[in-house]
Amino acid sequence: MIKKAYLKDINQYKGKEILIEGWIRNKRSSGKIQFLIIRDGTEEIQAVAFKPNLDEKIFKLCEHLTLESSVRIYGLVRADKRAPSGYELDITNIEIIQIADEFPIQKKEHGVSFLLDNRHLWLRSRKQNALLKIRHAVYYAICEYLNKNGFYRFDSPILTPNACEGTTTLFEVPYFDEGSAYLSQSGQLYLETGIMSLGRVYDFGPTFRAEKSKTRKHLTEFWMMDAEAAFVEHKENMKIQEELIRFVIRSVLKKNMKELSILKRDVEKLKKADSPFKIITYKDMIEILQSKGLKIQYGDDMGVQEEEMVTEDSDVPIFVEKWPKEIKAFYMKIDRENPDLSLCSDLIAPECFGEIIGGSQREDDYDILKARIEEENLPIEDYQWYLDLRKYGTVPHSGFGVGFERLIGWISGVKHIREVIPFPRMINRLNP
Ligand code: 4AD
Ligand code: MG
Repeated sequence: MIKKAYLKDINQYKGKEILIEGWIRNKRSSGKIQFLIIRDGTEEIQAVAFKPNLDEKIFKLCEHLTLESSVRIYGLVRADKRAPSGYELDITNIEIIQIADEFPIQKKEHGVSFLLDNRHLWLRSRKQNALLKIRHAVYYAICEYLNKNGFYRFDSPILTPNACEGTTTLFEVPYFDEGSAYLSQSGQLYLETGIMSLGRVYDFGPTFRAEKSKTRKHLTEFWMMDAEAAFVEHKENMKIQEELIRFVIRSVLKKNMKELSILKRDVEKLKKADSPFKIITYKDMIEILQSKGLKIQYGDDMGVQEEEMVTEDSDVPIFVEKWPKEIKAFYMKIDRENPDLSLCSDLIAPECFGEIIGGSQREDDYDILKARIEEENLPIEDYQWYLDLRKYGTVPHSGFGVGFERLIGWISGVKHIREVIPFPRMINRLNP
């Protein structure tokens, strides 16, 4: 019985005959010899069909293979210093599962909209495969950090009656007798209920924003990891975010060098980001941007260009803290030393990758929170449950939301967010 193996484990099979199941990535031939690049999801390898060593029939089968045909290949594992993986496979037998039709994505430049129309096929490319693996690794590292630091996973609902992040980007779902429902913009408000039971919690889920802006940083459906902790105040909240992000960077640098190299990521830049993060206030930021010649005023929100300029001279991410409360969410705690400010922070990544985390201490005083909800003209009856948390054992608490795709984009060095999620949803993209 020949052993079925995955290419990632090839070094365990030197000199042995194995079975690999996969797809033909590429093919070339020169007379008596054919070279097939086989990929099996984990890795790829060059498999060699040498006519004099093979049954005539088997050699012919190899000739018929097209790109992306699915196959079972039997072969002897041979060490070869020139091969990228250090090994090649000498084919002994082959079973064709299916001869693929001509693959739409060829080895040439294709336009982005063509690639997005063929996203279901584009995912197989080497670069997309590397991005999917980094996405997995970042997910895993985030959960590992949180699990090690006392956070329990707490699943917040996707259908909700509440607006967490303003009413302008809500996706309405007409269905419920009770009234309007929306797709979640962030699980945060629900996480705040979870900490009153568990102390520290996180969720990880799809979030939705009917974004009107077409930028390379905005998706309408994206994934967010919200974390929330009781008895944690603003400064400690930033400390946790910094530790988490540096843990993720270190973990990817340890486990995904191969993928980073496929993506041509400058890893030195990532290594440099694993140093203490800087903290500046919103006021400092406005002054910095003004000194760079931007026409931004105190009280303005940041756009894509402003975000990029904040960190252009920095190797590490920068926290921008203490924003005017008018441009931040109703749930943020008012700074008792300066009641015009919220105790919040945006974490801005270097290399022009923009905001990757939004976080804050939460308002824990019933009357102040109620007044903020009213100021924002939110329907108070829908927030009564949220206000209850301030009636029954309120405590200082804080949390933050990591934009998962933004973080992956920065770590992998991919400029457009549409490439770091399997099926991007944007204002002009719903298919496939
Ligand atoms: O800053 P935001 O809006 O914060 C919240 O939603 C808080 N309730 C989170 C919390 O405190 N638990 O969103 C969090 C992050 C942003 O920093 C950004 O990285 C990302 O989510 N994000 C988006 N990513 C992709 N596409 C969009 N349209 C995004 N909007 C926000
Ligand atoms: Mg934000």
